[in-house]
Amino acid sequence: MTEVLFEPKQIGKLEIKNRFLRSATWDATADSAGKVTDTSVEIYRRLGKGNIGLIVSGYAFVSAHGQAMHGQYGVHNDDMIPGLSRLAQTVHEGGGKIALQIVHAGINSVYLPQEGTTVPAVSEMPGVKRSHREMTNEDIEGIIDDFAAAAARSREAGFDALQLHGAHGYLMSQFISPIFNQRTDRWGGSPENRRRFHVEVVRRVRQIIGRDFPFFIKFGVMDDREGGLSLEEGIEAAKEMVAVGIDAIEVSGGVGQGAYRNQEGEPVTTPFRSRAAVVKRSVTVPIVLVGGIRNLETARDIVVSGDADMVSMCRPFIREPDLIARWHNGEATPATCITCNKCMAIVRRGEPLECGDIKASHD
Ligand SMILES: Cc1cc2nc3c(=O)[nH]c(=O)nc-3n(C[C@H](O)[C@H](O)[C@H](O)COP(=O)(O)O)c2cc1C
Repeated sequence: MTEVLFEPKQIGKLEIKNRFLRSATWDATADSAGKVTDTSVEIYRRLGKGNIGLIVSGYAFVSAHGQAMHGQYGVHNDDMIPGLSRLAQTVHEGGGKIALQIVHAGINSVYLPQEGTTVPAVSEMPGVKRSHREMTNEDIEGIIDDFAAAAARSREAGFDALQLHGAHGYLMSQFISPIFNQRTDRWGGSPENRRRFHVEVVRRVRQIIGRDFPFFIKFGVMDDREGGLSLEEGIEAAKEMVAVGIDAIEVSGGVGQGAYRNQEGEPVTTPFRSRAAVVKRSVTVPIVLVGGIRNLETARDIVVSGDADMVSMCRPFIREPDLIARWHNGEATPATCITCNKCMAIVRRGEPLECGDIKASHD
């Protein structure tokens, strides 16, 4: 039997050797300026050798005022390029391919190097203690320029592709979500206005990187909170982004329960599968499904059923960077990740990313 999971697939002009992506993973290894360190490079050395079709980097901030967390990579100025090049080169040396994920955290810019900085927000949010203010039209245009400049840097640094972070409650999620977006100008109000930021970012990034550079989005296609983005609206936004140049969509959550639902002790589910299937039926570009994929059978079923074209994983690769090589070699047992989320606790403490279950067994 031919294994569909090891058949190639294209994202734009990029040929990917199999159907597996490493979903973007913040690893808390950048220095205080946002520069890649030797510890970062080591993580990517292991991933690069692991036969993963496409590795997506941890989220990199496009503006100094859009940094979400400590130890996050920056791509907000040219000084970041040499370090990012090392990441790309290291993955290439191992035979892999790598995309840079870029983000602005908006009101979730929790980590700010400059004390007392006011966070740019889509709208003022009562109840948010962090000092923030509603962005002007000029602020918004400036951030779109920052996305475009970051995109140009990712290309210069030698990445194979670029991914926008349009999920998990960060700035793009905030713009499209009726919960966060209370604006009454051209950036808010109607569904068309709430998705204008997405369309403009995609258009301007595409202009600067050119038609051929592979460019996709991790998109929270609906919110999981009452009053949030509906799937119908999310689909309309997906269609418009494809029309202005998006090459693929990785389907994830938006505002609400967000990124990683599965907790230790609960059965691991694939919460975004049914919405990915709807997106897949609505657009012509490849769809990637993330969240809760832990074994070959589930991955195969997702692809064979046509719910998505590719699958991506995050936590399993923290424990087993060589997981896909192992599956490819016929050792088909499920990922050994137990979805305990101790990895997240480690990076939140400011320590470099590693599997917390393995670490606990050594301590
Ligand atoms: C430690 C950690 C860091 C993460 N960093 C990012 C990130 O930088 N960008 C992003 O889009 N998602 C990030 N996520 C979410 C994952 O990419 C993924 O969407 C989520 O964990 C569900 O996939 P999984 O069940 O295979 O882990 C992170 C998750 C974890 C556990």
